[in-house]
Amino acid sequence: MSTRFSVEEVEPTPAAERERRMTGAPFGEVFTDHMITTRWSAEEGWHDATLCAYGPLVLDPSAQVFHYGQEIFEGMKAYRTADGSVVLFRPYANAERFAASAYRMAMPEVPADLFVGALETLVAADRDWVPATDGHSLYLRPLMIATQPTLGFYQPSQSFLFVVIASPAGAYFSGGPVTVWLETEYTRAAPGGTGAAKCGGNYAGTLLAQQKAVKRGCDQVVWLDRGFVDEMGTSNLFFVLGDEVVTPPLNGTLLAGITRDSVLTLAADLGYGVAERPVSVEDWRAAAADGKLTEVFSSGTSSMITPVGRVRSEGGDFVIGDGTPGPVTTRLRNELSGLQTGRRPDPYGWVHKI
Ligand code: COI
Repeated sequence: MSTRFSVEEVEPTPAAERERRMTGAPFGEVFTDHMITTRWSAEEGWHDATLCAYGPLVLDPSAQVFHYGQEIFEGMKAYRTADGSVVLFRPYANAERFAASAYRMAMPEVPADLFVGALETLVAADRDWVPATDGHSLYLRPLMIATQPTLGFYQPSQSFLFVVIASPAGAYFSGGPVTVWLETEYTRAAPGGTGAAKCGGNYAGTLLAQQKAVKRGCDQVVWLDRGFVDEMGTSNLFFVLGDEVVTPPLNGTLLAGITRDSVLTLAADLGYGVAERPVSVEDWRAAAADGKLTEVFSSGTSSMITPVGRVRSEGGDFVIGDGTPGPVTTRLRNELSGLQTGRRPDPYGWVHKI
């Protein structure tokens, strides 16, 4: 049964002001008029589903999230298609991953109909905020936090808040190709840990290495697990060896990207060989040197498909191909964005009309 959201009266931002705020806004800095909030308690389950004005949350300073980090989130986008309609891309896949993250973090599951209903309700209310500019979209950020006011750490929180906010966004990286840093001092995740969950702690723990990467002139960190590639700080990684597209397997230490899954499907249907297998840094360097590795790209919701041009490490730099975006990366990017924006037919049922 679909959830009913109570709707609070919100004064919409005047069109001219909305356009001014949306134009050229960096990723994640501008927010729409509304947000969704829904509460969970052990006694009542999910309740108080509300569409209200975007604004600060009032939380007790002893809320568990501030102390023990019980928090998860998702990232997805609403697109304006060629005919002016607004669509979500694979929202049930995000609902499923949110549920998997909740399970790992001992949080209550948000049922898929509540999760997708919240997205639909928010996007319908803030429809005018979905950009029509090419390469732009409305980034959606569902999140769940532990709100029980207690410093005791005997059990998971007994109350939670599920929130969805929206932010009109352009490119996460200014175009690419990006330069990446191979991190060997710090690790992001370990077997049995939370690496596959989309929880804030996974990101907080990577900031020091990200600062280190930026200091060395890099855009992003590549995370390794004992010499094998896991993922990049905000996305999964793909390696193109001629006609074969390879990405590390989902072994529990990396995030199961929805863009990653879409790329695997699209690449196979376009006739490329597709493989999920471990890639070591040694093999990466050797294949780049002897020319077998022709392209590398990252895949993620915010950064879409971004070419990697140069790899930097303590041992020096190497370049991928000639350092410019390759044909496979460009083709997959065009195919995926064509599908998301209705410029190509969707044989997969991934596009979800609002
Ligand atoms: C996304 O790509 O949606 C993410 O959640 C990554 C985030 C660090 C921007």
